[in-house]
Amino acid sequence: MTQTFEIAIIGAGMAGLSAATALSEAGHRVVLFDKSRGSGGRMSTKRTDSGDLDMGAQYFTARDSHFRQALQGWLDRGWVAEWSPRLFIRNEDELLESPDDQQRYVGSPRMTSLSRGLLENLEFISQTRITGLQHTDDERWELQDDTGASHGPFDRVVVATPAPQAVPLLGAAAHLEQAAAQVQMQPGWTLALGFAEPLDTAVEACFVRVGALDWISRNSSKPGRQGLDTWVLQSNPRWAMGNLETEKSQVCRELSTAFAEVLNIDLPKPAFELAHRWLYARSEGNCNWGALAAPEKGLYVCGDWCLGGRLENAWISGQQAAQTLLERK
Ligand code: FAD
Ligand code: NAI
Repeated sequence: MTQTFEIAIIGAGMAGLSAATALSEAGHRVVLFDKSRGSGGRMSTKRTDSGDLDMGAQYFTARDSHFRQALQGWLDRGWVAEWSPRLFIRNEDELLESPDDQQRYVGSPRMTSLSRGLLENLEFISQTRITGLQHTDDERWELQDDTGASHGPFDRVVVATPAPQAVPLLGAAAHLEQAAAQVQMQPGWTLALGFAEPLDTAVEACFVRVGALDWISRNSSKPGRQGLDTWVLQSNPRWAMGNLETEKSQVCRELSTAFAEVLNIDLPKPAFELAHRWLYARSEGNCNWGALAAPEKGLYVCGDWCLGGRLENAWISGQQAAQTLLERK
């Protein structure tokens, strides 16, 4: 009979959920921890009276055959849907339609529908920030949280947080700690706007190559979204870096102005606005690590930063961490 492990996964974003589903399907007892109230991490949705607003990942693409297979299951369950926006690109001089044949997907009816679906039947301890991992004399792991409480023991631990948040948890394996410490993550600002009257534009999504923004999407054009005509604007990392401590009201003003310039319209007063700062939005450059491991200690690490900041990469990294753990048994 194969041995059943107790496995802690720290971080319930796409990477942690991916590892959790694979390990749980292999028959192990998995417990997910997250400092936030819900799951999904940077695949996040803010639920408001004006509609559900995807503040983090906007959509995803699927290139890897295993990921496409998982995606088919999610489509069948109705957790995700195709999104084919009218897509534009904004250069210095002009706003041009930029259609392509890239199929894009979104959680349905909100981005977090996917994380909620993946979390089904998994044990989840939310609002618990893990601050330390202790390797016990019998080679198991105790987890400490920021209230001083202890969780465990666990036979294996998978750290699935952004790199800077993984570093303080990896002291027991110097090579993992050093690898995570060398990954730089860039910040970003996201602004959501809602308008009582739909804006007069054909744009549903736009890659922006000028000014403060790098992405605009008409959130309400995604399948299943209800409420006002809502938009999500994302700053580029350079602008965010220069505005890390800027007041939210000022961020709203500056990104709204940039938005009006991109669309070349006079913007009416929004009925709703919400700004969110991401300290760790995306990793700089792409490592090709898949996942990291100190198998002799039963410690594994995954996250989008192990492959490059995309949802698909986060999922692949989680699968690879699970695979490495299962091979070591
Ligand atoms: P995360 O989603 O960050 O999950 C890590 C989790 O760990 C979080 O839930 C966090 O709360 C938790 N955590 C951290 N530290 C601790 C701790 N000490 N204890 C407990 N829990 C902890 N990707 C795309 O493919 N398409 C896009 O359009 C896209 N747009 C994006 C837009 C924005 C604004 C951002 C920020 C990201 C975007 N991405 C996009 C990237 C995508 O969101 C990420 O690649 C993916 O969600 C990362 O998943 P992850 O599991 O690696 O990390
Ligand atoms: P994708 O294939 O749609 O886009 C990849 C990149 O190709 C885009 O960023 C864009 O620069 C370019 N591109 C694609 N289609 C285009 C078109 N029709 N016209 C002009 N340019 C086009 O999606 P993929 O590879 O899955 O990437 C995920 C997305 O997530 C990217 O857009 C990336 O910028 C975004 N992202 C945003 C983060 C943030 O913090 N704002 C963090 C991580 C990812």
